[in-house]
Amino acid sequence: MKRHPAINGIKVLLGITGGIGAYKSAELIRLFMKQGAEVSVVMTRNATQFITPLTVETLSRNPVGTDLFSLSEERSIDHISRARWADLMVIAPATANYLAKAAHGIADDLLTTISLAATCPVLIAPAMNSAMWDHVTVRSNLEILTSRGVAVVPPTEGELACGEEGVGRMADPEQIVAAAAAAIQLHDLDGVRVLVTAGPTREAVDPVRFLSNRSSGKMGYALAEAAATRGAEVILVSGPAALDPPSGVTLVSVESAREMLAAVRANLKACQWVIMAAAVADFRPSAVLESKLKKKGRQGLSLDLTANPDILKTIAADKGNRLYIGFAAETEDLLENARAKLEGKGLDLIVGNDVTERGSGFGSETNQAVIILRDGTVERLPLMTKRELADQILDQSMRCWQSGDVDG
Ligand code: CTP
Repeated sequence: MKRHPAINGIKVLLGITGGIGAYKSAELIRLFMKQGAEVSVVMTRNATQFITPLTVETLSRNPVGTDLFSLSEERSIDHISRARWADLMVIAPATANYLAKAAHGIADDLLTTISLAATCPVLIAPAMNSAMWDHVTVRSNLEILTSRGVAVVPPTEGELACGEEGVGRMADPEQIVAAAAAAIQLHDLDGVRVLVTAGPTREAVDPVRFLSNRSSGKMGYALAEAAATRGAEVILVSGPAALDPPSGVTLVSVESAREMLAAVRANLKACQWVIMAAAVADFRPSAVLESKLKKKGRQGLSLDLTANPDILKTIAADKGNRLYIGFAAETEDLLENARAKLEGKGLDLIVGNDVTERGSGFGSETNQAVIILRDGTVERLPLMTKRELADQILDQSMRCWQSGDVDG
């Protein structure tokens, strides 16, 4: 099964309502727990007709809630504590009746009461007869819920409990887990300010020429987009790149390494995470000519170069408890070189990639990378799109951030 790091360690409150899809909830609990989540279940009275609380309690290893006013089961876990406990609420299956109550704030049982009290992300997996699913009332209730930010994993097509064929079966547990990972990721960077650098830098030779490199900026832009999608406030400091800035991201355009350093310094204080995906030119012409260099009378040309500041090293002293993430684009000895940069630049995490590998490196849509953490953990990732890699990098960064294992 695909691994979803966003699920690891979270508390999932699973609501089961009275539909035939409830039999799949047993598998759903098992999958969530395999991904490292803690699961606590609340069932409606009708749900207990389809799957027993004993099954659910045994699988989830947590007390199951069924009644709003039960003295025995509610003595220590009331609806407010359950709502506060959850990092994510998943309602699977969600009947038409549940959708109607949740959309209109009706709280007449434990699950609907918790639904009103919960402030965490919510994912629903509706399941019902296809005529009900198509009904205008169900659709408008669903719209109300999605307009409030509730995520939906829609039902699939197939044979329904009533014997008919159509759309209405609850999505497979694996799909629900994947949707849960996406729903939790949507919010995990709420309130975090992230500075991302991207693209190449250009070092002027004269008014028409410059030194630069093959960086397209795609990895940095993918990171900015992923972080913004997950709720972060993103400042994207970008060298020249032929890309549109992702929506909701503040773009600061720069040309040279020194301009990039100034922009990073100006925004550093406001940010908690710094992701240096830019391919900064290590050298610049020692002097920028004021007029165009002419070829007449020259057989060859030597340029005198001066080292540029290493941006990461320069800001290392201001690290505080910020999270610093760097990249190592290598052509040989990937792990060794990446580890040396992690240490030398005072990083918490480094993403290494061999730019000579097929499908990796400058300009490509994909990347095959290895993520190295300061504690020595090495995660080798398969070839994936830069956007997918961006989420993996953010997942690992979030782990460092939450563990407090940030090099100060
Ligand atoms: N970096 C930086 N300032 C520089 C050069 C690089 O902040 N002047 C950052 C990059 O953004 C990247 C990391 O340092 O996150 C590693 O960049 P890379 O070009 O791979 O390494 P260099 O330190 O330049 O070493 P070399 O070119 O010798 O491999």
